[in-house]
Amino acid sequence: MKKEIIVIDGPAASGKSTIAKIIAHQMQYMYIDSGAMYRCIALYKIEHDLNIEQLIKQINEIKICFTLDDKVYLNNIDVTNKIRNKEVTSIVSEIAKESEIRAYLVKQQQAYGLNKGIVMDGRDIGSVVFPTAKIKFYMEASVEKRAKRRYQEIISNGDQADYLNICEDIKKRDYEDMHRLNSPLIKVKDAIEIDTSNLSIDETVNKLMSIIMEKVK
Ligand code: DC
Repeated sequence: MKKEIIVIDGPAASGKSTIAKIIAHQMQYMYIDSGAMYRCIALYKIEHDLNIEQLIKQINEIKICFTLDDKVYLNNIDVTNKIRNKEVTSIVSEIAKESEIRAYLVKQQQAYGLNKGIVMDGRDIGSVVFPTAKIKFYMEASVEKRAKRRYQEIISNGDQADYLNICEDIKKRDYEDMHRLNSPLIKVKDAIEIDTSNLSIDETVNKLMSIIMEKVK
């Protein structure tokens, strides 16, 4: 079976990473969460108390690694959970606007794809990082469905959540991701659109896998 690069772009909380992880596992490919890389840069900025100019100057000091069990390391420290905290989430779209930061991360993302056999999810993977990839998906779901899933995820972790706040936050992040100057979130022409609003995880995985298996024949 040919090895390929599988791209999954789409808005925040559309279920990309859940699906991408399962697909990578089934295909025995590596999974790369490009959003986690932007989150690592945001965490580094917070931990070193830097402004954007200082952060860009120090960008080469920031080393991000993924392990096969989907852990994320920032300068050799496991930050898998930390990069999901509220503080990081609240500044990460500011970080993702900066062209120097994007250029630094895009180079690393492209290096992961050199030997193919990867699933990468994000916002600009099909448009900028791997524009010639043969398997591209654009995954979306209604704001209400995405907010409901995020709400349930938070509650099931034993934390408190406010559904309307989550809705507003998702709408704000959609707007920021789609309207920024550098590499905004777009659905490229050759991406297959999957609306997961009324699909379970299994149904979504099955749908993607049947398309992937046709393409890697
Ligand atoms: O998917 P996520 O919520 O973990 O992404 C975090 C942030 O990074 C979000 O603001 C969008 C941005 N991002 C991006 O600009 N380009 C990517 N390829 C992936 C994420």
